[in-house]
Amino acid sequence: MLRSAYLSDVASVLFGREDIRRRIEELGRTITGDYEGRAPVLISVLKGGSVFLADLIREIALPVSIDYMSISRYGGAAESRGRVRIVKDLDDDIGDRDVIIVEDIVDTGLTLSYLISVLESRNPASVRVCALLDKSVRRIAPLEIRYRGFECPDVFVVGYGLDVRERYRNVPDILAVQDLAAVQADPDLLLSYLPGRPAPA
Ligand code: IMP
Ligand code: MG
Repeated sequence: MLRSAYLSDVASVLFGREDIRRRIEELGRTITGDYEGRAPVLISVLKGGSVFLADLIREIALPVSIDYMSISRYGGAAESRGRVRIVKDLDDDIGDRDVIIVEDIVDTGLTLSYLISVLESRNPASVRVCALLDKSVRRIAPLEIRYRGFECPDVFVVGYGLDVRERYRNVPDILAVQDLAAVQADPDLLLSYLPGRPAPA
């Protein structure tokens, strides 16, 4: 009892799995309409965006293809001004393709705006961004998020692909972590949110 009372001060469900599912269905429908007659390539930046990508493509009624990129930052996003090293590049050429970058969350936007410039230099037909979460109050690099799941408050979030130190990507809901220091000190604190827990009302 005490532990669960304490836990609710540490983290809480911000977007439940059913809200996420419904929103992705809407995004998929919009993308399907916008790209009618075309075959966009959806690009996910590992690892966070992979869960969103997997659900999103199953709501798009088009012959899409997918590709992945892995990047590593020089220091933090702000220090590197978004410059990143490409650790794993795309498998396929994107020349003349319609590209949709699928991101879990856009925070400062530095990483993504750098990535957009890298991809645009390869002469795709178009580049648009689809982000599940938009922490717009934190934006440093202005960029257009054409397809957005939810506006996200300025709080650390985990679950549905997003991690704290590589954990909890498999939480089905998106949690707001109010006390990040507590979770970093005791990484087991959020175990009760793992799959198997009933969906929040
Ligand atoms: P930025 O937009 O360049 O600042 O970086 C965005 C990246 O930072 C995202 O793709 C996430 O990997 C990570 N990130 C930003 N905010 C959060 C958060 O609240 N939880 C987990 N990861 C985050
Ligand atoms: Mg990420």
